[in-house]
Amino acid sequence: MSASIASPHFLLRRLHSLFGILPVGAFLAFHLWENSQSRFGAEHFNREVVGALAGLNYLPFIEIGLIALPLLLHALYGLVIIGGGRAEPLRYSYLRNRLYWLQRISGIGLLVFILLHVGMTRMAGLVDPAIHADLFGHMRAALANPWVFGFYLVGLWLAVVHFANGLATAAISWGLTTSAMAQRRFGWLCAAGGLLLGAIGTHGLVGYLTAPVGGGA
Ligand code: HEM
Repeated sequence: MSASIASPHFLLRRLHSLFGILPVGAFLAFHLWENSQSRFGAEHFNREVVGALAGLNYLPFIEIGLIALPLLLHALYGLVIIGGGRAEPLRYSYLRNRLYWLQRISGIGLLVFILLHVGMTRMAGLVDPAIHADLFGHMRAALANPWVFGFYLVGLWLAVVHFANGLATAAISWGLTTSAMAQRRFGWLCAAGGLLLGAIGTHGLVGYLTAPVGGGA
């Protein structure tokens, strides 16, 4: 049963889809690029990246209004969608069915990852300003533990897979890719973009462990 354009369910679904791309997806891409700057060392990262962002005007509005709230709404309605458990995917092809479940499982995994990640970085930095002042050192020490590194690697790739597959399905739900050929082509494009984003993110994680502590490229 499909919802009519005027129904609250239809509007909420569109908002859920939109927020997944803008601002949440856009922020994910920015965040992975930002972290890839770790390879330039502690001084550069703490001063030019963390310091510059901390100095932005209207920072609380950006962090809460443009990142946290849209992410929270996307995640909450995502849980409603998962809880609703529609039966349509049984009619889909094998690959589509797999991707449908991957989107849901990655969403739940991401929720756990994001809560822990925000807790051990942004929240920890608010409680202890020394952590915020040397986020590079904080992340380097945390990622030196292979379990934490593995946890971050899984969280990063869950985010990238969820975003890339989500972009491909969003293009279908917004009517941008209508033919099977267009959906396949755009699907490959999203997969390539996801691989690139994942590589940038992995590069950033490794950068924390291998870059100079003092700074400089
Ligand atoms: C980095 C964070 C996230 C990003 C960038 C993101 C992005 C996206 C995008 C672009 C879509 C496609 C929307 C569409 O098909 O129209 C999507 C779908 C979905 N997201 Fe997320 N999302 C994130 C986090 C989460 C979280 C934490 C959950 C919590 C459960 C979640 C649950 C879902 C679900 C269930 C769908 C599938 C909706 C459907 O099939 O109609 N997402 N996401």
